[in-house]
Amino acid sequence: MDYTMEQYRESAQAIRSRLGDFVPKVAMVLGSGLGFLGDEVEDPIAVDYKDIPHFKASTAPGHKGRLVFGTLEGRKVAVMQGRMHHYEGYSYEEVSYAVRVLRLLGCDTLIVTNAAGCVRTDWQAGDLMLITDQIKMFSESPLRGENLPEFGVRFPDASHLYTPRLRELARETARELSIPLREGVYFYCYGPQYETPAEIRAARLLGGDAVGMSTAPEVIVAGHCGMEVLGLTLLSNMAAGILDQPLSEQEVLDAAEAAREKFSALVRACLRKL
Ligand code: HPA
Repeated sequence: MDYTMEQYRESAQAIRSRLGDFVPKVAMVLGSGLGFLGDEVEDPIAVDYKDIPHFKASTAPGHKGRLVFGTLEGRKVAVMQGRMHHYEGYSYEEVSYAVRVLRLLGCDTLIVTNAAGCVRTDWQAGDLMLITDQIKMFSESPLRGENLPEFGVRFPDASHLYTPRLRELARETARELSIPLREGVYFYCYGPQYETPAEIRAARLLGGDAVGMSTAPEVIVAGHCGMEVLGLTLLSNMAAGILDQPLSEQEVLDAAEAAREKFSALVRACLRKL
């Protein structure tokens, strides 16, 4: 289904009516087990997805399904606690719907976080990775269908989806905090099944450093509508076939819990410097 400009505006208006004169500048999408940052927002105004016209519910475990508006590190933020995934049965357009709505509300920056499998055998589970670029070429684009010129052009450039200035800012911030930060390419896979070892070897050959089931669609849409993007990944597990053990959701959630302090410190310090 193609959403219309009117629908995006209706969603934005419904949210705006709850915000008073608050105008968010930084949209944040928090991944598996990382949603706790939303609970740390000051003077929060929470809006459940189910109360926003045209929004879909988020059904993935560890995803609350609400937007929290308020202040974090002195920045006016809109935090998505819980994102939609293609594997939940949503189209890519549905998955990235909220990003456009947040753009209409005033956000010009998007910070995306996720948990992902580590494809590199010389890195370790628990490491954090700055996303430098992404590969999502085996599935359709969230921009498929009629283009809405209010958001951007039909054939948008994707050379710098992850904004170089924000990458440098994250690097510098991690250095200051003495948090080791890997850098690499996020390789998008549909899920919900974890990848096969053969798929991971293919991803590695193609230049992927991390594999995950989220983020890439939202970032394409953010780039299209002119937002600056910062992407941070928690490498929650070694990708399939690297270790002689099955992958499990529990492993991902446990890793997110273990990385909580480090991850939160990095995101907060980046926010402060924006
Ligand atoms: N593969 C895909 N998505 C993931 C993984 C993985 O290994 N870990 C966390 N999200």
